[in-house]
Amino acid sequence: MINKDSSIPLYIQIKDVWKEQIERNLLKPGDQIPTENELCKLYDVSRITVKQAINSLVNDGYLVRSRGKGTYVKPPKLEQNLAGVTSFTEDMIRRGLKPGATLLNTEVETAEPDIAARLQLGDGARVIKVQRLRLADGQPMAIETIWLPYHLCPTLLQEDLTTSIYQILKNQYKIVFNRAVQYLEASKAEKREAKLLQIEPGDSVLEMERQSYMKDNVPVEFTQSVYRGDKYKFRVELSGQ
Ligand code: GLP
Repeated sequence: MINKDSSIPLYIQIKDVWKEQIERNLLKPGDQIPTENELCKLYDVSRITVKQAINSLVNDGYLVRSRGKGTYVKPPKLEQNLAGVTSFTEDMIRRGLKPGATLLNTEVETAEPDIAARLQLGDGARVIKVQRLRLADGQPMAIETIWLPYHLCPTLLQEDLTTSIYQILKNQYKIVFNRAVQYLEASKAEKREAKLLQIEPGDSVLEMERQSYMKDNVPVEFTQSVYRGDKYKFRVELSGQ
């Protein structure tokens, strides 16, 4: 219950009560929570306090409002399971850097056999290929080449590809990643890579491959990246048994 003498704001206390119920699964996805009026009466607090608590739960992804119908416990979203499938843009923002991209090449082409296999496409299927130099605070960080099945995002090349492709996929095509498989390998910069990354040929780079899938294991992207070895650190969080 809530304590009006506590220094913890009332809305936070109310929020914590509901958050705990949801986290302990006492409330299930789709369960409706009481109306604002009912909550005001239940906790004997103002409507503003109740609104703040609900807004905060909505912002944190615990509740969802359905217009005219009420407020419900939010079903777990694919994106949330997939906190790990982050984009370059998100990675840079998280590090406090300004993400950017310079477009090097864009193409719609018939998928090469290895790309077709990775994207589980049939013979002759078309793919969109985008090669970009990724920047952090204006400095070259990685060269990224991404292949996507053409039929999933046929108008992608009309978008501003100096921004986040993941964001475009989500906004324009409602594509949400479910999982990804990623490989990292140490390597040495080739001449062209070194020039673009502003390092010397032979300097250390990290090569990364990512294959991402949406629900039902449908492949969405295959990406090969070459990161500057001196600038980039990959962080992996491991949980116990
Ligand atoms: C990371 C991933 C790539 C992905 C890219 C999308 O760099 N390794 O596989 O294509 O993010 O980034 P953005 O959404 O910023 O274009």
